[in-house]
Amino acid sequence: MLKRIGVLTSGGDAPGMNAAIRSVVRSGIYRGIEVYGIYHGYKGLITGNIKKLEASDVGDIVQRGGTILYTARCEEFKTEEGRAVAIEQLKKFGIEGLVVIGGDGSFMGGVKLTELGFPTIGIPGTIDNDIPGTDFTLGFDTALNTIIDAIDKIRDTATSHERRFIIEVMGRGCGDLALWSGLADGAETIMIPEKKENIDTIVERLNRGLQRGKKHNIIVVAEGVGSANDVAEAIKARANMDTRVTVLGHVQRGGSPSAFDRVLASRMGHKAVELLLNGDKGKMIGIENNKIVAHDILDIVTKKHEFNNDLFQLAKELSI
Ligand code: F6P
Repeated sequence: MLKRIGVLTSGGDAPGMNAAIRSVVRSGIYRGIEVYGIYHGYKGLITGNIKKLEASDVGDIVQRGGTILYTARCEEFKTEEGRAVAIEQLKKFGIEGLVVIGGDGSFMGGVKLTELGFPTIGIPGTIDNDIPGTDFTLGFDTALNTIIDAIDKIRDTATSHERRFIIEVMGRGCGDLALWSGLADGAETIMIPEKKENIDTIVERLNRGLQRGKKHNIIVVAEGVGSANDVAEAIKARANMDTRVTVLGHVQRGGSPSAFDRVLASRMGHKAVELLLNGDKGKMIGIENNKIVAHDILDIVTKKHEFNNDLFQLAKELSI
């Protein structure tokens, strides 16, 4: 059985990462193994920025956003030489298994470590919800609630001034943040990379609404579609409508994790330790139909997150 494992966070941070770190550390200690924190993602693996974590080191973090282990996007780890140094560091510290909390880029690192024979388990931590093999990624629910809180406020002023608001949310390749927040907030238009819509069609819809007496609108744009400012310009060029733009930006990535994300993080962290102790490697933990599952990490990095067309259609139907 393994005696010592490591945990790191990598890529964009997400609320719930701390709760996952806490779960890995305490589930490990509960089972009699040592858990080491690797700081600054894969970069810390290369530089040896590694420290043993006690149960008390992860006290008072379950409710905190961000990641106490810090995070980074590391180019050096993408090279063979970088990975060789990382393996040496792991050996030096006697670490025999690793939990990587991050997004698809971070899992590529997990695949490489697994190919080098090093047992690695991934936990999907990203607000984008763009990972296949899981219904939800850590941080998505919290980010969604942050967005909804902002849009609710914007809606008040949109109504008062009878304006069109174009709100840009995060999500480069995946429109889930825009789709779910748009549905939850009754947006008239949701612009996502998976279902690109012609700007003329959108303006036609806005005009139809105007004729029916609708004087304010919420349009949610995923950043992967393009900038909200460009959308506003395109609308202005076609229709004489008073528009305003809000780019929510990194506010979406911070804040205290929701109850859902804390529970999910706790369940996933626990499962990751269990898998390592069972001798598993090269897996990613997911949640499907409220069951914690494990998939081959290589499968995950070669597949795409499934787009929920039913939700998109529902949002359209409800925003007539
Ligand atoms: O992947 C998470 C994410 O927040 C994306 O939604 C966004 O496009 C990107 O990270 C922003 O990255 P950075 O913080 O490096 O600007």
